[in-house]
Amino acid sequence: MSTRALRLHDLEPTISAFRADVIEGLSRPQKTLPCKYLYDDAGSHLFERICELPEYYPTRTEMALLASAADEIAACLGPRVRLVEFGSGAGVKVRLLLAALADPAAYVPVDISRGHLVAAALALAKDFPRLRVQPLCADYTRPFALPPAPPGAAATAGFFPGSTIGNFAPDEAAAFLGGAARLLGPGATMVVGVDTPKDPAILEAAYDDAAGVTAAFNANLLVRVNRELGADFDLDAFAHRALWNAEESRVEMHLVSRARQSVRIGDRRFDFLPGETIHTENSHKFAPDAFAALARRAGYAPKALWTDARGWFSIHALTVE
Ligand code: TRP
Repeated sequence: MSTRALRLHDLEPTISAFRADVIEGLSRPQKTLPCKYLYDDAGSHLFERICELPEYYPTRTEMALLASAADEIAACLGPRVRLVEFGSGAGVKVRLLLAALADPAAYVPVDISRGHLVAAALALAKDFPRLRVQPLCADYTRPFALPPAPPGAAATAGFFPGSTIGNFAPDEAAAFLGGAARLLGPGATMVVGVDTPKDPAILEAAYDDAAGVTAAFNANLLVRVNRELGADFDLDAFAHRALWNAEESRVEMHLVSRARQSVRIGDRRFDFLPGETIHTENSHKFAPDAFAALARRAGYAPKALWTDARGWFSIHALTVE
């Protein structure tokens, strides 16, 4: 059997973009670091371990829902579709969908983590030998273009699982969905996995597991700033914290400074008081109606909805208007 070479379309963010984002985030009154930088190679691997944790229900629940709804979702997308996945990661979930699709024209995994993307795309191309795989390394929160569609593609569809939509602020979520609508084009279907509000104890445990994997994932952001930007964050001087903010309907992740300290990044210094936090991530939870309203605001018509028996997770199919 011959192995087809994969052509990578590479738009990975530069080190200088990373530095500018870090300096800007740490200069705010509530210090923050953009969550997309959690996903370097080490972070992407840690995230895969999160997905297997007993406390982290979203992956398991969404996978089961995808498995049971795959045929209906595939029917929604139609034959010979070109499927674009935003934040493809290890590409585990999409396999359920690809296997159900009728004669898919192409799969375009888009991810910010280049090494991880290439490995996952190669593995997937091996398992789906007739499928055209077109990996694209990019920060999908910024505009980008798709590789040319293969002849014979009947439609383009988007796939955005994992409730990653919840990691945006609501306005950014609407902006992302609007950008995806322009990228995919009118009439396209967008399939989005969305986590729902539930008991805060369940939510907080999902983001602060007993084995400390989520804490390590969060701290990896500082490891990365140290390595790539020459900073001197003392990893033992920051603690992981996850808390449910009911008013904003989100789990917030912070790194809490254990002491008064000063951190150097190149020629810049940032001072921390004891208990002061770096806000690293939000994970917004949407009830089905709330997400449908957001989608309408962003230029989509809700088309179909799937939820599990407990209502713990939802998959929305939306049509670009
Ligand atoms: N999309 C995932 C979520 O919101 C991302 C995630 C899971 C995450 N666990 C995390 C991000 C911990 C930062 C820290 O559920």
